[in-house]
Amino acid sequence: MPKVKFSKENQEVTVPEGTTIRQAAKLLNINTNQGVNGIGATLNKYVNCHGFGQCGTCRVFVTEGHGENTNTQTLWEKKCFNVPFPDPLPALAYLDNPEETRLACQCKVKGDVTVETGPEVNLFGENFFS
Ligand code: FES
Repeated sequence: MPKVKFSKENQEVTVPEGTTIRQAAKLLNINTNQGVNGIGATLNKYVNCHGFGQCGTCRVFVTEGHGENTNTQTLWEKKCFNVPFPDPLPALAYLDNPEETRLACQCKVKGDVTVETGPEVNLFGENFFS
């Protein structure tokens, strides 16, 4: 069974194949809906789309195992990362790390993965506002 490791929280859990990162995080009481750079994390923990791929607040980086140990991006993820409405932040955040950025509620694991929750949005980097 796949292991999902959460690097920031330094915790890992073994889950059945096909489990989403959001479901794995919930087993460890980890909030994947962390807002923007931690701002809004408490609010987003409760105010989100509850796993339907609509709000974009559960953005994570799959730093190890992406591709070979995860499903391919879903239609909802492609929409979220490429169409900046109604929430522009997931689309902006995707600019820096297109390969490893996923929505925790849409990314299903097939093997061991390492996940970074709440990755920073660099609004002043070379891709935006610079
Ligand atoms: S919980 Fe809303 S997109 Fe994942």
